[in-house]
Amino acid sequence: MNQAKEYAETNAIQFRHVAELVDEFPKEFKKMKGRIIDIGCGPGNITRDVLLPNVDKDAVIVGADVCANMIEYAKQHYGVDDKLSYLQLDIQTPELPENLIEHFDNAVSFYALHWCKNTKQVLKNIYKLLRPGGKAIILTISHHMIYDMYPEQENDPRFAPYVKNSMKWAPPHQGCSDAEQIMKKDLIEAKFNVEYCTNKWETFKYPSFEAFMGKVHMQN
Ligand SMILES: C[S@@+](CC[C@H](N)C(=O)[O-])C[C@H]1O[C@@H](n2cnc3c(N)ncnc32)[C@H](O)[C@@H]1O
Repeated sequence: MNQAKEYAETNAIQFRHVAELVDEFPKEFKKMKGRIIDIGCGPGNITRDVLLPNVDKDAVIVGADVCANMIEYAKQHYGVDDKLSYLQLDIQTPELPENLIEHFDNAVSFYALHWCKNTKQVLKNIYKLLRPGGKAIILTISHHMIYDMYPEQENDPRFAPYVKNSMKWAPPHQGCSDAEQIMKKDLIEAKFNVEYCTNKWETFKYPSFEAFMGKVHMQN
């Protein structure tokens, strides 16, 4: 199955968490005006169905993702005329395209930045994308228990043939007890003025064992 379609059909948990984030900071989202970039937008369903209805009614959103398949899928299924378009962009690039520098009034990113090992570069790029006074709201994963489990499986002869190089995709702050402090420091180093930064425990409840296995399969 197309990876973007598969993700769009199984991201109910991310969908709920992003909706909860909007409920927690409704005014901050409503104040997002002008041009907004959604970094790591994936298939575009959260961009269209959660972000778009909750920002300023005249705002224009650009969904950005490193993966061409995601952008193609988002364009086909979740574009909204002149309000919502999509762009391929690697937010970890050492050379941000000139035309994107200071091109956005606001930036958001949901469940995407943990895929990037170079958090400092990513935050610097997000800062550069923003015009002076621009605001960013970022939701990312600092630690996932599945990456506590994979190394055990890699060392277990029953699973070893199937689980290889599993830590390649672990979040950059996996196992760091001071992830919140590291993130704050990196944000400040990237020149952000940090209004709020917290590391929360979230429980991912999968609707069924099959849904959980689908996710495990997608990550490998
Ligand atoms: C788990 S999905 C999240 C999608 C959507 N934001 C959501 O909350 O459902 C993570 C997305 O981040 C994208 N991504 C990973 N690394 C990226 C990078 N370096 N630059 C831009 N997007 C990236 C992936 O391609 C993927 O579509």
